[in-house]
Amino acid sequence: MTEEKALVAVVMGSASDADVMRGCIETLKELGISHQVKVLSGHRTPDAARQYAMSASSLGIEVIIAGAGWAAHLAGFIAGLTPLPVIGVPIDSSPLNGMDSLLSTVQMPPGIPVATVSIGKGGAKNAAVLAAQILALKYPAVAERLLNYRRQLTQKALEASGI
Ligand code: RP5
Repeated sequence: MTEEKALVAVVMGSASDADVMRGCIETLKELGISHQVKVLSGHRTPDAARQYAMSASSLGIEVIIAGAGWAAHLAGFIAGLTPLPVIGVPIDSSPLNGMDSLLSTVQMPPGIPVATVSIGKGGAKNAAVLAAQILALKYPAVAERLLNYRRQLTQKALEASGI
């Protein structure tokens, strides 16, 4: 999975978000999706975040996943700078346990959407699956790996329930 061939960009607002976003990266690996990971902030490194968001499409990125906590504007900030689909992961890093980042991420005004997943580690994994579903429309190999991923989920659930 070389940087130049990455189809998905995983951006997080702080290195402290890595524990939550690890599940996203592991799921992308499990689904065989090339990706690159960046730590960029809409308020601490706005120029770098802007530059990256504006160049992502020309780098070959097709989906951007952005995770941030507190007043989480990162996903919306990026979405305003690129035509690519942006998936937002609300990180539960604040005293409000992510309710603040959920609302900050999901409540985009009309015209510039952020496809927002659930708060925290579960949402981070789902962001990877959703990115794969978007890519599966174009890449049959990704569609096939997603089918296998779902079959495994079903199999594990059946085994756990003793059926
Ligand atoms: C947000 O502030 C980040 O996404 C992170 O969730 C939170 C705290 O960042 P640190 O102070 O731990 O760097 O921008």
